[in-house]
Amino acid sequence: MIQIPQTAQPAPFRVTRASHLTFTVSDLARSRDFYTEVVGLVVSDEDRDTIYLRGVEERSHHSLILKRTDGAPSCIRTGLRTYDDEDLEKAKFFFDKRGIKAEFVDAPFQSRTLHASDISGTPLEFCATMPRLERLDQKFESVRGGGALRFDHYQVTAPDVQLAASFYADFGFRILDYMIVGDQPVGVFLHAKDSQYDVVLIKRPGPALHHFAYVVHGIHEIMRACDVAGSLGFGDNVEFGPGRHSLGHSYYVYLVDPDGHRVELLPPPIYSGDAQDEPIVHDLTNIKRVTESWGLPPRLTWLKNASSFHGVERRNPPPGGPEPSLEAYLGMS
Ligand SMILES: [Fe+2]
Repeated sequence: MIQIPQTAQPAPFRVTRASHLTFTVSDLARSRDFYTEVVGLVVSDEDRDTIYLRGVEERSHHSLILKRTDGAPSCIRTGLRTYDDEDLEKAKFFFDKRGIKAEFVDAPFQSRTLHASDISGTPLEFCATMPRLERLDQKFESVRGGGALRFDHYQVTAPDVQLAASFYADFGFRILDYMIVGDQPVGVFLHAKDSQYDVVLIKRPGPALHHFAYVVHGIHEIMRACDVAGSLGFGDNVEFGPGRHSLGHSYYVYLVDPDGHRVELLPPPIYSGDAQDEPIVHDLTNIKRVTESWGLPPRLTWLKNASSFHGVERRNPPPGGPEPSLEAYLGMS
């Protein structure tokens, strides 16, 4: 019996979207090249140890923060935006009531910021506002590589996606797509804004960050990002695609940055803001293609590798779930 988590109505506090991420990287200059020249992000601020980046369409100060580390690169925190500061107080009350540690911190270039963790241990932060900067999408001389427009979503692995999905649904996230094998959920696609998606949960050892995604204008910009990757020596960083998803209606390419953090580029996603749209259940039992509509399936690295969350241990899920790989397709494994 499938029990799809119910979205809390009304939400105890208002989250508008997934908005930003913080990573550590081993070589800031190399990562800066990758994100500005290939992906097409622009630098909002930087110093010796930190770079703040945003898409060319974004007025918010940053959607990606890169911090230099001498240790193993990892993801520090995923960021969600609330409607206003009052929602932060309500969020704090919500987490306190559930016994989830939540504390206010000062974060540069962000309004009051609330740190917490989701039920799988994914480090979260909530903030309502950031300084406003100029949109650069019509400063055409600023548009480079894939010309990334705006942050769209991120995907985290979780040993129990049902439990993790309930956590987000309890404060207002809606479920668009719900993947099962038999009666076991293996992937839950959630959103807060009116397009797909904001947070995607996938059943694998976790929590870990599988990828994050930026919207580009279209397939031409995806190809241009790949072309620039190739000519700048990042050809091996084009990990999967370009191709078209079977779920999600979208073209994609997945690139890994110099530290192995994975970024997806996709064209503008479809509208999904009608409240009456119920979750669509996809039964993957015996299905041949899980991720791609056509072409070659993902290589094992795409299926197995994910960025650790700093200081957070991964737990294994119970076995199950189809993950056809390129290597299996070619008879190599
Ligand atoms: Fe994605």
